[in-house]
Amino acid sequence: MKNNIFSDYPLEYDRWYDDNKNVYWPEIITLKRVVKKEEFGLEVGVGTGRFAIPLGVDIGIDPSFEMLQIAQTRGIEVVKGVGEDIPFKCDTFDYVLFVTTVCFLDNPVSAFKEAKRVLKKGGKLVIGMIPKESVLGKYHMRNREKSRFFRNAVFYNTEEIVRELKHMGFNKFKILQTLINYPDEKQYGKYSKIQKGYDRGSFVVITAKK
Ligand SMILES: C[S@@+](CC[C@H](N)C(=O)[O-])C[C@H]1O[C@@H](n2cnc3c(N)ncnc32)[C@H](O)[C@@H]1O
Repeated sequence: MKNNIFSDYPLEYDRWYDDNKNVYWPEIITLKRVVKKEEFGLEVGVGTGRFAIPLGVDIGIDPSFEMLQIAQTRGIEVVKGVGEDIPFKCDTFDYVLFVTTVCFLDNPVSAFKEAKRVLKKGGKLVIGMIPKESVLGKYHMRNREKSRFFRNAVFYNTEEIVRELKHMGFNKFKILQTLINYPDEKQYGKYSKIQKGYDRGSFVVITAKK
């Protein structure tokens, strides 16, 4: 795998959440609509656990030892590993979650296949992502050079992810969006609304079943 920038600056990445609660909280609240604490879940690319903790995720994997160390201090059970080769048995989890991780994967298709393998029958794949077509996606692509974290990110359209997942046999799709037209429309209370679909959100949550 490529050099992992998150291993070089784990605290800087983690601090971003304290400085950007206006973006972080709408994302959590949207994910809470589909991720249930009583279900047994895995987060792929768990990072420092900023989503795993409030969502009640049971186990997180990540290739970055430095990110996992922080997640572990927050009380998450962690395992070093990549999404393309998930270190768990078939039919283990009620849900598998990816939050802002798909754009950093070496091979998203392999990771989705692996997620399907470790999901129980009827289990949920949940993907939280910044779509390529969104205002924020376009902003990150325009300003690549200014961000050490997003410099090498590969953004995807919501539709291309959905098409790929359908091709793999996932079904019963639901899509929610928040950060409506963010950061162009920053009026609090407006952009943080949760809506169905993916036409205007800078953060989209795709749910599909195995
Ligand atoms: C933007 S961070 C997101 C972390 C966490 N999900 C969050 O939202 O705070 C992306 C994470 O993906 C991890 N990552 C990079 N390549 C990966 C891979 N092939 N499989 C799983 N995780 C990977 C990075 O180490 C990093 O922790």
